[in-house]
Parts: sequence; C-alpha cells; structure tokens
Amino acid sequence: MSKLDSSLAVAKRDSFSSSFGVLAATLGSAVGLGNIWKFPYLTGANGGAGFLLVYVLATLLVGLPVMIAEIMLGRRAKTDSVGTFKKLAPGTPWWLIGGFGVIAAFLIMAFYSEVAAWVLAYVFKAIAGSALSSDPAHTSAAFSQLIHDPIQSLLWQWAVLVLIGGILLMGVSKGIEAVTKKLMPLLFILLVVVGVRSLLLPGAGEGLRFLFEPDFSKISASVVLTAMGLAFFKLSIGMGTMLTYGSYFRDDQNIPATTLRVMTADLFVSMLAGIAIFPAVFAFGFKPEAGPSLLFITIPAVFANMPLGHLFMVVFFVLSAIAATGAMLSILEVPVSVLSERFGWSRAKATVLTLLALMAIGATAALSNSVLSGFKLFGMTMFDLFDYVTSNVLMPIGGIMLCLFTGWVWGPQRFREALSNNGKLANQPVLSVLFLVTRWVSPLLILVVMLKGLGVF
Ligand code: PFF
Repeated sequence: MSKLDSSLAVAKRDSFSSSFGVLAATLGSAVGLGNIWKFPYLTGANGGAGFLLVYVLATLLVGLPVMIAEIMLGRRAKTDSVGTFKKLAPGTPWWLIGGFGVIAAFLIMAFYSEVAAWVLAYVFKAIAGSALSSDPAHTSAAFSQLIHDPIQSLLWQWAVLVLIGGILLMGVSKGIEAVTKKLMPLLFILLVVVGVRSLLLPGAGEGLRFLFEPDFSKISASVVLTAMGLAFFKLSIGMGTMLTYGSYFRDDQNIPATTLRVMTADLFVSMLAGIAIFPAVFAFGFKPEAGPSLLFITIPAVFANMPLGHLFMVVFFVLSAIAATGAMLSILEVPVSVLSERFGWSRAKATVLTLLALMAIGATAALSNSVLSGFKLFGMTMFDLFDYVTSNVLMPIGGIMLCLFTGWVWGPQRFREALSNNGKLANQPVLSVLFLVTRWVSPLLILVVMLKGLGVF
C-alpha cells in the first residue's frame, strides 16, 4: 500500500504524499452532486444569472476565507474536528464548532445519500434505456415513478450506504479516492461534450441568457441566503470536513493558493453543468424551476436523439455516482473521525454505527416523496428540510464561529505564521487583507445574510 492509500485506512495520522494529492483530494470532496444536481436546480429555481452572480460573490467573500481558515486550523491541530478546538483552545466551548459539524454531516448524508440513490437508479435506467426520451412528460414520469415508490427509494439509498460502508470498512477509501481522482478529468470532458450538444439544440440561446444575463429584480434576501448556502455546501465548509482534510495537509503546502485552485476548478465544473443543462431546459420546454428533479428529467432528453446517446447517458450517471462517492466519503470522515478519536472506538465500529444511524435518519428523507410526503416541519418535507437547514443555517453558523475563532482567538500573528508556512511564503500583504476579511467582513456578512434571509429582521 502506498502512503496515500494507507493514510485514512488506519487510525494513525498521516499526510497526503504530494502537493497534487492534496489538491485532488480536496477537490474530490468539493466536486460532487453539488455541481451536477444542486447548483443547476437552485440556479433554475432562483431566477438564473442573478443567483449565479450572488453565488460567485459569496464564494469569494465568504467561501474562500472560511475554507482557508478551516484548513489552516485543521493542519495546525492535526486531529478530528472536535479535537481541533480541544487542542487549540483547551477548556473553552469552541469545540462546539466540531459538535455542530457532526450534526450537519449526518443531516447532509441523510439527503445526499438519497440523491446518490437516484443517480445509482439512473445508471440502471440508462443501461435499460428506459428513461431516454426528449419528451418532458416521459422523462418527468420516469423520475416521479422512482421517487414516489417507497420501496425503491429506500432500497437504492440502502444500496448506497452499504456500498460506502463497504469502501470504508475494507480500508480502501484512500484507494477509491485515488480512482475517483483519476476519473475526475473524464467527468470534465463528458460535461463539455454534453454542453456542446446542449448548445447545438434549437433554442439553446434562451438557456444561455437565463444563465448569464442577470435579472436583478429576482434577487431577494432569501435568494441571497440560498446562494451563500450553496457556497458553503459546494466547498464542503463550515462543518468540519475541511478541518479534517486540513489535518492531512503537509506543512509545506501553500494553503491559500491550493484553496484558490480548488475553488476555481469547482466553479468551473458547476458552470459546465449549467451550460449542459439550461440550454436543454429551454430547448425542450422544461421548467427551470422544476427543483430537485431538474437534472434527472433534463439529462435524458439531452442524450435522446444524440449519436451514441444511450452510451453517453450510462457514462454520465456512472461518473456522477463516482463524484458523489468522493464527496460522501469526505462527509463521513467527520463523524467517523470524531467517534474514533474522541471515544476511542475502532474505525470499524464508528463506521458501522454511523451508517446504521444514517439508515434510520436517511429513511425519513428517502420517503419524503411517498409515504412521508405529508410529514412536514416548517412547511418542508424531511428531504427539503435537511437540504435547507444544513446549507442555510448549520454551515453558515459553523462559518461564523470559524471566522470568530480565527479572527479573535487565534489572532493575526499566528494567522500569518500558519499561512505563510512560518515566513517561507512571500504572501504577507495578501494575508493582512485576508485576516481583516476573516475577522470582520465574512462573519458580519454571513450573519446579516442569514438573519435577513430567514426573515428575522
Ligand atoms: N461539496 C459536495 C458537493 O458539492 O457535492 C458536498 C459536500 C461534501 C458537502 C462534503 C459537505 C461536505 F462535508
């Protein structure tokens, strides 16, 4: 086993073996169903280009500083997300950041595993050729048949959880991640192919205008909160994943530069997904505000009537499943590392118990479109609630706390030392600005956007 393969498989702390390994692994956590499924559905539901613009701004002003701070603290403490604060600020309640993160990780997995379940089901639908059609009525019916069937919804989710559990228990998660990374460029290429196909459809221009010509009248406080929530979700921040990943970063890694690259690549993938989907949405007469079903009803239409469309659709969903796997492994790393390092449980025990708990909580999300469709809290089904609360409440609160800890407890001196690798990197002026943003701008911005978006004032 190489150093990379063994790093997460054993409880012993290790670090990524190369600078590229760090970049690829972090990107493996960021890129996932967030790009392919959530970004298009939220952009469609929130008015298009205006939402996109706010999302990009939120990524720069909030996402980037929080991600850098989180990785920095993780690298310094080199332990799980709760332990990070027990180590850096012993005897204080800051460890609650890690505690909230564990809750967020559970709730994200509860609905994310269901979306992954749909993707897995679509791999088989694609092989059978059953969903392939350019008729919106047909593709919509195929999707609704899947989500309205409680047995199918549940079994596919269990299949996903068992698969992920198997990967973790066999201690091959690093190996799987390595494979995931190798396949990532393929996903890029496929999205370009789908994008070109989509752009060549008659009426594609309208989709491009929807995606790139902002209509500012559509931007409300709740749209801004949703865009900021997407920035958190996309970069896997505010809940401890990047603390845990930071703990595997090498001491000579340039954290700000790596983070910037991950952010840029991640935005690029989302943009490709948008270009693949929106022209087709308008060309075939789908509704951009279709919600979580958007990807699943639109993509089969793009591939229908396309040369080799059947094959492309299989590959598309296989690659999406692989991207989802990388992201899910990183989400699970949060509870599993906390349970094993805080409570001294073996990783196997921590993994099994986490997955059993997820089967129970996840079922409420899986059944949200069938037997539990009438069971709502705050007017939302459990699926929608987990999706909404994690991105728009829990992760932003985690983000505020991370900024406050970094800006007011950790302080400018240690911030500069840690991010310049003890003065080895010549980035002092950038770090001074970044520190002020982290101390003042990001936390205030997150707070105001969150309270306004939730209607508190
Ligand atoms: N960033 C992932 C995506 O966009 O699919 C989702 C995610 C992964 C969220 C890991 C949170 C996390 F800790």
